[in-house]
Amino acid sequence: MSPNARLIGVPGGALRLVTPALVIDLPALRANLAEMNRRCAGAGMALRPHGKTHKCTALAREQVAAGAVGVCATTGREAIVYAEARIPGVLVTTPIVQRAHIEALASLHHEGADITLVFDTIENVDVWESVLGRTARPLRALVDLDIGMGRTGAASPADAVAIARRLERSEELGYAGLQAYSGRVQHILDYRERRSTYGGQLDRLQETLAALAAADLAPAVVSGGGTGTFAIDAERKIYTESQAGSYCVMDVDYDAVELFPGEPNPYRFALYLRSSVVSANQPGYVSINAGFKSVSTDGPLPRVREGQWPGATYRFFGDEFGMMDGAAGCEVGDIVDLQTSHCDPTVNLHDFLHVVDGDTLLDIWPIDARGTL
Ligand SMILES: Cc1ncc(COP(=O)(O)O)c(C=O)c1O
Repeated sequence: MSPNARLIGVPGGALRLVTPALVIDLPALRANLAEMNRRCAGAGMALRPHGKTHKCTALAREQVAAGAVGVCATTGREAIVYAEARIPGVLVTTPIVQRAHIEALASLHHEGADITLVFDTIENVDVWESVLGRTARPLRALVDLDIGMGRTGAASPADAVAIARRLERSEELGYAGLQAYSGRVQHILDYRERRSTYGGQLDRLQETLAALAAADLAPAVVSGGGTGTFAIDAERKIYTESQAGSYCVMDVDYDAVELFPGEPNPYRFALYLRSSVVSANQPGYVSINAGFKSVSTDGPLPRVREGQWPGATYRFFGDEFGMMDGAAGCEVGDIVDLQTSHCDPTVNLHDFLHVVDGDTLLDIWPIDARGTL
């Protein structure tokens, strides 16, 4: 239970939160969900947003209510939590190879959860079959293909065809298509440079799709892509669905990426770390209760919310503290909202999303798939 629960619905409650607290600006979130849905529909792609961004069942439900066909999961825990909550269309985008996860997800499948897996080796298909046993409802499975990131995935078209053929022969698993995701390219700032680098990777994907078609294994589903490659994915029309994740809340890192050529980024900041000034005894800066333990450190510096303390900048100052420079007149107890550097690892540091509309705290959503397991 969040210590802020007592403030739900209380006038001005969102301004009195115990901090540091992650805040979701609900109108901005809903605008982002609608915008991405509209863009997917325009591109003829389904949307299966990545639930690693927010790790939150309640937010996943918002995405599905707004038109998504399901959500993706990366870790075993994300997959289990979303499947337990009966979120529809849970695509686990990492090959699941640990016994405890395999057993838990196999049970959830037998209990009726809607799960799709990815495979990048035939050996793992063997393991899953032995755990699943005979089932009237084969578990949907995609071939995971590496198109250039080198993280997971079949390393060649021939390997992808072999895994697809093996899945097609399976009685416990049902061959449903292909996944191919490339991470680093998502964050290339310049659109043309990103399009050129990623374009070569999509050529590799097309080569594999041709090999699958030649083997009579043309995939029904081709899943992949992220917020950074969305415009290119929409243009190339290879994917049947997008796995974009960060678009829903945005962060400082993605804000610098030119998502659509010649257009301002259409997604709004919907995630903030609400922090408070704890000391104002030094000239030129104040100390706030937001440090390494509450905002991720792997991206650019967090930014003070636009318009809140004009001209002020944030810098880290240890585990629990940060400094805000240039905020004239700022006093102990004042609120400082930070745009987070990188949304995914920031969310993973917290237990709750505080859902606000202006000064009102509407709800508190547990970050129930939080953690690394
Ligand atoms: C497999 C996969 N798909 C989709 C995404 C979503 O990417 P983004 O947050 O850049 O939209 C990620 C993010 O890391 C991912 O690992």
